[in-house]
Amino acid sequence: MPLICLGLEGTAHSFGAGIVTSEGDILANEISTYLPITGGIHPREAAQHHSAVASQVLQSALLKAGISGEELDVIAFSQGPGLGPCLRTTAVVARALSTLFDIPLVGVNHCLAHVEIGRLLTGTKDPITLYVSGGNTIVSAFADKRYRVFGETIDIPIGNALDMFGREAGLQHPGGPKVEVLARKGKKLVELPYIVKGMDLSFSGLVTAAIRKLKEEKEQLEDVCFSLQEYAFSMLVEVTERAIAHTQKKELLLTGGVAQNKRLQEMLGEVAKDQEVAFFTVPKEVAGDNGAMIAWTGILLYKYGKIIDVEKSLVDPKWRLEAVEIPWSME
Ligand code: ATP
Ligand code: FE2
Repeated sequence: MPLICLGLEGTAHSFGAGIVTSEGDILANEISTYLPITGGIHPREAAQHHSAVASQVLQSALLKAGISGEELDVIAFSQGPGLGPCLRTTAVVARALSTLFDIPLVGVNHCLAHVEIGRLLTGTKDPITLYVSGGNTIVSAFADKRYRVFGETIDIPIGNALDMFGREAGLQHPGGPKVEVLARKGKKLVELPYIVKGMDLSFSGLVTAAIRKLKEEKEQLEDVCFSLQEYAFSMLVEVTERAIAHTQKKELLLTGGVAQNKRLQEMLGEVAKDQEVAFFTVPKEVAGDNGAMIAWTGILLYKYGKIIDVEKSLVDPKWRLEAVEIPWSME
């Protein structure tokens, strides 16, 4: 009998419940996303959203999977990194279920989950991973029991940068997908700062400059969107390309919410071709935050005995990817 794991995701804007088997079958993947009417995500409001929808999302996941709570073998939850109030709300739900049904509890690193769901669904074994989202921008690869971080943002993440620009341009949150659509109509490359420091990236000055081009220099919105993407993605591609060259890995995996961007996929595809590595993008259904990725990573961890006591299941808003010791091999 395969194991069945419920994964609860709640690091930021979304509360998700996914149910996945140890054979990698996704039985359910329900989600409810908090959308602020104006401005960005307010952590406390997002947490209130999560507690309001948790029971409904959970019930519909169980219904979709056709199982009852008692049939679960493992309960996994996103233990960090993320927004404190959101993490704590989600952890309370996970602890309550674990205690109520007497089911082992597993704490999952959210960044690791974005990588592992990508590996599962693309069949990649040991890739260089570019993980791009609202809260993270990380180039990593497995070496000596950990996913080592080769490059990352030194200020704001790429998704956040696109969302910030979108907000200033009057686009509704999240701005990333809207910027992508507008960028397709852009023709002129407006000059913006290109900031790569060693293997690290900086997007904050780029966003400020893009906003200035739009508002003060009256450049066309479509052109600024186009240019913002070209600059930001070229920076990501440069660091990723160097990580490939350095590690000699044979696969490249793109994951996280921003992985849905077609232009980014296209640019990375070209680099992969030049570097002779196989390129894969996580399926769009699990690109953004979701419970299935937490459930699948929960299964992997559970198989290696990584269970935690409810009393010791505190969340960690700053939990780094390379802090997680990986017990499995990359075969
Ligand atoms: P994390 O906690 O992993 O940092 P997150 O909370 O940001 O994740 P995700 O769902 O992984 O959540 O990513 C959301 C981000 O993805 C947003 O910043 C959004 O603008 C961006 N995004 C989604 N679709 C696109 C797209 N097509 N092009 C660019 N950005 C996109
Ligand atoms: Fe995420």
